[in-house]
Amino acid sequence: MNILLVGGGGREHAILQKLAQSPKKPVIYVLPGNGGMDDLAQCVNVGAKDIDGIVAFAESHAIDFAVVAPDDPLVLGAVDALEAKGIRCFGPRANAAIIEGSKVFSKNLMQKYGIPTASYAVFSDMDEALAYLDTAAIPTVIKADGLALGKGVILAYTRQEAKAAVRSMMEDKIFGASGSRVVIEEFLEGPEVSVLSFTDGKTIVPMVSSMDHKRAKDGDEGLNTGGMGTIAPNPYYTDAVAARCMREIFLPTVEAMRKEGRPFKGCLYFGLMITKDGPKVIEYNCRFGDPETQVVLPLLESDLLTIMEAVADERLSDVDVRFSDGSACCVVLASDGYPQKYATGFPITVDADFNAALFIAGAKRVDGQLLTAGGRVLGVTATAPTLREAVEKAYQNAAKVHFENAYCRMDIGKRALNA
Ligand code: AMP
Ligand code: GLY
Repeated sequence: MNILLVGGGGREHAILQKLAQSPKKPVIYVLPGNGGMDDLAQCVNVGAKDIDGIVAFAESHAIDFAVVAPDDPLVLGAVDALEAKGIRCFGPRANAAIIEGSKVFSKNLMQKYGIPTASYAVFSDMDEALAYLDTAAIPTVIKADGLALGKGVILAYTRQEAKAAVRSMMEDKIFGASGSRVVIEEFLEGPEVSVLSFTDGKTIVPMVSSMDHKRAKDGDEGLNTGGMGTIAPNPYYTDAVAARCMREIFLPTVEAMRKEGRPFKGCLYFGLMITKDGPKVIEYNCRFGDPETQVVLPLLESDLLTIMEAVADERLSDVDVRFSDGSACCVVLASDGYPQKYATGFPITVDADFNAALFIAGAKRVDGQLLTAGGRVLGVTATAPTLREAVEKAYQNAAKVHFENAYCRMDIGKRALNA
């Protein structure tokens, strides 16, 4: 079986490691992949947003099954284009990926179907948005409508900050066309939980819950990043919360998308906040989270490829999706300075007694040597029976990975352990 995996970060390395363990023994190509993946797959220099290039590669290499991981190609219609050539895919079509691609779409969907979320208003005229902010409750949250590399959300703690955020999106166009419409929404409070799920458009199977650590510095200080580490399961996601999410959020979302003629097939990611009024949706993503995937998939005991094929064939209810009872912790090693300016090109070395999973995100191989090539360089994931052990083991092993300007948060899992 020939598989094509689109993407090139730590999330894709975690997906790749799991697919490579499949008893179906697939041959795997990653487009574009990265220098840390070439022991398990052939990395091919086709960009994740190059839809024509992806389709041409799939056709010329007799691809049986494609897994499209990142948001951009999903929103651009990579799955539609591959399916048009008869290639089975794991991932939503463009008309369902819009659940992440447009915040206005997702907010309107939740409002229409009574799915709990922050109250909101939508603006395509800047002066109207600014006038609304004269009387809006503060703090408030300003969101660019479209994709913005995960940076399109600004939490505004004063009226001036809120207005500046609107101007930066709608006048200065810092996110380009993504900011031509903005959502201004109610500021919610409470612990955050990420829940990735498998869904074939009818059945939904949540994976083990997780907690991201988005800020760059310890104590949740510093700038927002793509994620500096994760733990699973998330202690705030109790059985009672899980049951309520299934009833009030997960099933209604799958149902809503089907009723809208946009059945969602793939991994649907729920970014939730557990408020005093119950769980509410902060955001939907149309894909696996990064670095949530680096703790969730190591706890998956069932065969990932079997599940993904069942999703594609709309028979998810027939397969076994089993997670271990243990815990996992992923510590991201980044280039110092990330998410702003940082240097790259430093050799990465790993001590011989390293004993954890290593997911490479930003690295390239030059003459056999792995060199840093990005902001988030890699993730070290440990699994153990308890969260405390997983956290300890992840940090012990992170200390065995070296490059010149390595930086990591030292408090991944601390909040969860104190919960
Ligand atoms: P996002 O890029 O959509 O994941 O948002 C980034 C972060 O902003 C989230 O992880 C939350 O911490 C925060 N956030 C988003 N929406 C809200 C909201 N309505 N109230 C409070 N915090 C929010
Ligand atoms: N870690 C957050 C995301 O993947 O969107």
